[in-house]
Amino acid sequence: MNHKIEIRIAEDPKFAAKHVALEFAKAIRKNPSIVLGLATGGTPVEVYRFLVDYYQKGEISFEQCTTFNLDEYVGLGPKHEQSYRYFMQQNLFNHIDVPEEKTHVPDGIAQDLKKACQDYEAAIKAAGGIDLQLLGIGENGHIAFNEPGSDARGRTEVVELTENTITANSRFFGSTDDVPRKAVSLGIGTILEAKEIILMATGESKAKAVARALEGEPCGDSPASFLQTTNKVIFVLDLAASQLLSEATCQAAIQIS
Ligand code: GLP
Repeated sequence: MNHKIEIRIAEDPKFAAKHVALEFAKAIRKNPSIVLGLATGGTPVEVYRFLVDYYQKGEISFEQCTTFNLDEYVGLGPKHEQSYRYFMQQNLFNHIDVPEEKTHVPDGIAQDLKKACQDYEAAIKAAGGIDLQLLGIGENGHIAFNEPGSDARGRTEVVELTENTITANSRFFGSTDDVPRKAVSLGIGTILEAKEIILMATGESKAKAVARALEGEPCGDSPASFLQTTNKVIFVLDLAASQLLSEATCQAAIQIS
């Protein structure tokens, strides 16, 4: 292992989520006008529950924060229950004090998607860049919706989803037929520019993707492996997601509780 990714392993998914939430809370307290990069999917739901709890107890405020989400399905508007804007409203934004105009999710129904992608990049730049980025990982190693084969320098654009991702995400929809085939996604190049990145992965289904991201050379077959090429990346895993890591990698990891 020759990269600088820090690995932290928690006993179970709940501890992993609490750890990530505490890192976010600490960063928000340190810099109340922080620019946060946020993720969707099953993995961050518990993280957002903890953050809402900290907000309700008066421990943190999001009033001065700006947020940018990673991705959105093409064709799903904000009122669609499977859109990522809807997810963010339900799981986080509706329960905290972040002003709505400071929350950004790519527009999946823009007339001119190409321009919407360029505008999204420009908005991130205008906000001063992302300070702290939360990531999940797909079973095939994707980050945001950057599927295997994606370019490490990619910027925000419309991408095609792979069969693997469509099948994995069909659990949120009625059937695989209902899952959009395209999405707007932050590019890997854009993600790598975040000042700090925390990737969270839990469960056995992520173990292979996690091991590949951390242990092979950075290469397009595992988009998450490009995280080896930037500074200040932390992987927060549970035991199940870490089970295929080599002994040497495990020894270098920090156990958290
Ligand atoms: C989705 C999202 C990713 C997410 C990943 C894992 O397709 N586009 O941002 O990290 O897949 O999702 P989950 O946490 O549900 O396993």
